[in-house]
Amino acid sequence: MLVFVPPHPLIKHWISVLRNEQTPCPIFKNAMAELGRLLMYEASRDWLPTIGGEIQSPMGVASVEFIDPREPVSIVPILRAGLALAEHASSILPATKTYHLGIVRDEETLQPTVYLNKLPEKFPEGSRVFVVDPMLATGGTVVAALELIKERGIDNKQIKVISAIAAPPALQKLSDKFPGLHVYAGILDPTVNDKGLILPGLGDAGDRSFG
Ligand code: PRP
Repeated sequence: MLVFVPPHPLIKHWISVLRNEQTPCPIFKNAMAELGRLLMYEASRDWLPTIGGEIQSPMGVASVEFIDPREPVSIVPILRAGLALAEHASSILPATKTYHLGIVRDEETLQPTVYLNKLPEKFPEGSRVFVVDPMLATGGTVVAALELIKERGIDNKQIKVISAIAAPPALQKLSDKFPGLHVYAGILDPTVNDKGLILPGLGDAGDRSFG
């Protein structure tokens, strides 16, 4: 498994806004969306296939490259907090489908429960799938999501996980269960407490995004 933390000053900036306990809800949600835009941009580098051609510009014929519209790209936001991180995905990626997954952790046991599953029965052949969840804490949620996606015809190399903050327990589980997976994170934090919150983290991403 590969974990990428793109060394970009704007990524550091938005993480700092998210960490600040004084950041109000609408600004927090906007910061999460901006962070998602940057991470998605980095994660699509060298991954989205292009096709070449020629096009007539006002000044002459130019060789061009487009994102190949025949190659399916999917976004899977994990509700709730993944909705904020994925907000700009469909505007920066030219052609995508969004499949929502609602997963919530039990506050005591930290076990995930799937309460909404809009995944297709089978993903189209050759799909590339972005799985979007801001917090990878104990890892239970993202593992549950990836298992559901893999059951639908996707292998590890067809998936990129996009997250704001990732912690060691989640990264360890992902590395054990999904070799070849790529994870893009805004930052890595050192610990998860016994309530399943990342330290120093940013608190509860769902509550801070949606109140
Ligand atoms: C939070 C967070 C992740 C998950 C991470 O969601 O947004 O989805 O927990 O925890 P894990 O790695 O330990 O499984 P939560 O269950 O609070 O739901 P919400 O997004 O609706 O707030």
